[in-house]
Amino acid sequence: MTTRTTTRATALAATGLLLAACGSSGSGSGQAGAPSFEGRGPITYVAGKDTTGTVQPMLDRWNKAHPKEKVTFIQLPTDADAQRQQMIQNAETKSDAYTVLSLDVVWTSEFAAHQWIDKLPEKRFPMSKMLKPVVETSRYRGGLYAVPSSSDGGMLYYRTDLLKKAGVAQPPTTWGEMTGACAKVKRLPEAKGMSCYAGQFQKYEGLTVNFAEAVHSAGGRVTDANGRPDVDTPEAKKGLDFLVDSFEDRTIPKEAITYQEEDGRQAFQSGKLLFLRNWPYMYSLAEKSGVKGKFGVAPLPGLNGPGSSSLGGHNMAVSSSARNKATALDFIEFMTSEENTATFLRDASLAPPYAALYDDKALIEQYPYLPVLKESVLRAVPRPRVVPYGDVTSAVQQETYAALTGEKSSAQALRDLQKALRKAVAR
Ligand code: GLC
Repeated sequence: MTTRTTTRATALAATGLLLAACGSSGSGSGQAGAPSFEGRGPITYVAGKDTTGTVQPMLDRWNKAHPKEKVTFIQLPTDADAQRQQMIQNAETKSDAYTVLSLDVVWTSEFAAHQWIDKLPEKRFPMSKMLKPVVETSRYRGGLYAVPSSSDGGMLYYRTDLLKKAGVAQPPTTWGEMTGACAKVKRLPEAKGMSCYAGQFQKYEGLTVNFAEAVHSAGGRVTDANGRPDVDTPEAKKGLDFLVDSFEDRTIPKEAITYQEEDGRQAFQSGKLLFLRNWPYMYSLAEKSGVKGKFGVAPLPGLNGPGSSSLGGHNMAVSSSARNKATALDFIEFMTSEENTATFLRDASLAPPYAALYDDKALIEQYPYLPVLKESVLRAVPRPRVVPYGDVTSAVQQETYAALTGEKSSAQALRDLQKALRKAVAR
């Protein structure tokens, strides 16, 4: 190792930028002493807008059983970045308005390092029954700072009826097969005006997810095993080029540059898209829409074979400036129990953190793709687990967006991204 790399590695370690999974012990949690979880009474639960309509009914059950410890649901915007901003604002003013936070899996390190959330008593929660990569997202330097409530893996939604009609027997496993299938379907009169593919390409967290998936699905990576940026590579370029070229040749419709998850779902449900990358939550909503019975889900395609998903999901944490933390812990236990995450799976197709639910016969009957989803979650690539995650994701969003809109070549965007990521992790 040169002196320069040694110095940089030390700097990375000092700022907590190396992957949390590097095996450090729980001692350096950044939290002075163990927090005490005292106080009972009303609390709030803060999460992104519930597009599934299943959260309030679950809170009603809790409230009925705990009339003196009622929980009020505070819904933030659907956009992950806007949620993060509002939660940080609450934390920085040390407000007690937010009690239990539904944190995106990528925010754990940042919130734990700033002591915006409390380290949790691990023994209270059945972590060994949960999928390992999912549990890892709730740890920071070995300590448990949140409890997984749902996981997430990207999947390819596709129109079974149209593929069948066009004589395509199987969903595609590569990007080439996908565009090939589109060309065949587009010859059908009922496919008039349809577009081939979309994902989430607006400048927000969803773009980081889709960029990382494209890069990983082409054999590249965003950071190396030690968390150091490694994105200026031919493999990463192939991934980004798939997105850039698809916008250019209209495989992806122009308007998808404004899509978040819900926009793509609406487009798919109204018959505008043949293929869509989205999370599991969409399944049960699409089943209640005009495409009911006409769609299936498959693993994401990649350059030379199946692609890989970004690991998504949400974990529940206790805001360190909150009151009634004893109630907060009980509430987290309730919301993340195997029984209640099974209810969220049954009613809203949310990916559960518990391993056993993916092998449950009745659930597989309802959601035949559960084994595929389990594999997708187990093989999913985590986004960088770094304290300055906000800087990292905004650099990814900025450079990817510039490439997708033709403002920069993909090569230039990746060069600039590598520089920006280096700077972000060196701070
Ligand atoms: C989903 C995922 C989350 C991801 C977000 C991006 O909510 O669970 O991890 O960051 O989508 O839009």
